[in-house]
Amino acid sequence: MSFLDDLEPLKQAALADLNAAADLAALDQAKGKWIGPQGQFTGLMKQLGTLPKEEKPAAGKAINTAKATLESALAGRRSELELQAALPKEPTDFTLPGRRRALGKLHPLTQVTDDIVRSFRKIGFVVADGPEIEDEYHCFDALNTPADHPARDTQDTFYVDLPPNAPKPPINTSNRWLLRTHTSSVQVRVMQKQPPPVRIIVPGRVYRRDNADATHNPTFHQIEGLYVDRGVTVGDLKGTVEFVFRELMGEDVKIRFRPHYFSYTEPSFEIDFTNALVKKMGKDWLEIAGCGMVHPAVFETVNYDPEIWTGWAFGFGIERIAMLRYGINDIRLFYENDVRFLRQF
Ligand code: DAH
Repeated sequence: MSFLDDLEPLKQAALADLNAAADLAALDQAKGKWIGPQGQFTGLMKQLGTLPKEEKPAAGKAINTAKATLESALAGRRSELELQAALPKEPTDFTLPGRRRALGKLHPLTQVTDDIVRSFRKIGFVVADGPEIEDEYHCFDALNTPADHPARDTQDTFYVDLPPNAPKPPINTSNRWLLRTHTSSVQVRVMQKQPPPVRIIVPGRVYRRDNADATHNPTFHQIEGLYVDRGVTVGDLKGTVEFVFRELMGEDVKIRFRPHYFSYTEPSFEIDFTNALVKKMGKDWLEIAGCGMVHPAVFETVNYDPEIWTGWAFGFGIERIAMLRYGINDIRLFYENDVRFLRQF
């Protein structure tokens, strides 16, 4: 009986072909050759219709079984080949050393800031924060620096056009917003919000209309300090600054106060600093910060009674300290984000 006699050898040949396929392309080819629409096995199935009626049931059954066998062989080979394709071409060498993910580092400015904050926390200061886009009132007027004050010239900055729906600056001041020139504006914001005593430091980014060179950059960082209580003296100020700088730069640090002028402190000083590093640079002293006793006019602005409350404030540049600490001679290196620089700290 020719139909069923043909079936078995055809099935065996198809099976051999499918199982021998060396890759997925070859498998698809074998599939087409045998069980695709034009395939030889499919061709045999088409002959079913021409068989005598009594032969059809047995032949149909045989052909269905064979077809199922071929399809499962096809699926089996396909998953084998897919697995093979997913495996790496080269054998894995388990004796190679592992690959480590490189660890990042904190930026040197962040490290210095963290150290300064840690020192101040030891003596009871907390960190306060304020906006970098500031209004003229908090940056200048409230700090006893009216519009015609010459100190404004030395702190020229970038003025900002805000979208029309932005909140309006406080009444009674010029209507301008700017990038804050110092962190001192946060003194005012904190005192407006809380009654004395106050003991805060404010690390933050500030802006000036300066051209970049080795010691200037239009944006840099400061730390502001403010201490308000009853009976606060310049001695408290000097002792605090000395404590923090010794922690930061070593026991050989010396501090010197020089009379100066700031409109929001009276008396005002500049703080000079020296240690072995400064000497190595061939200098006796390095100017490092401004400070003084909070001006009564500032207390009046924030509704603190200047007859009762006294306080000191200071502000210094973080870059300056970081440059001194690490022997960096160009401030612009901090902002270039060159990993060859950043990796060194
Ligand atoms: N704001 C000053 C500056 O940017 C620094 C400063 C001086 C801050 C005296 C103070 C201060 O709090 O009392 O240069």
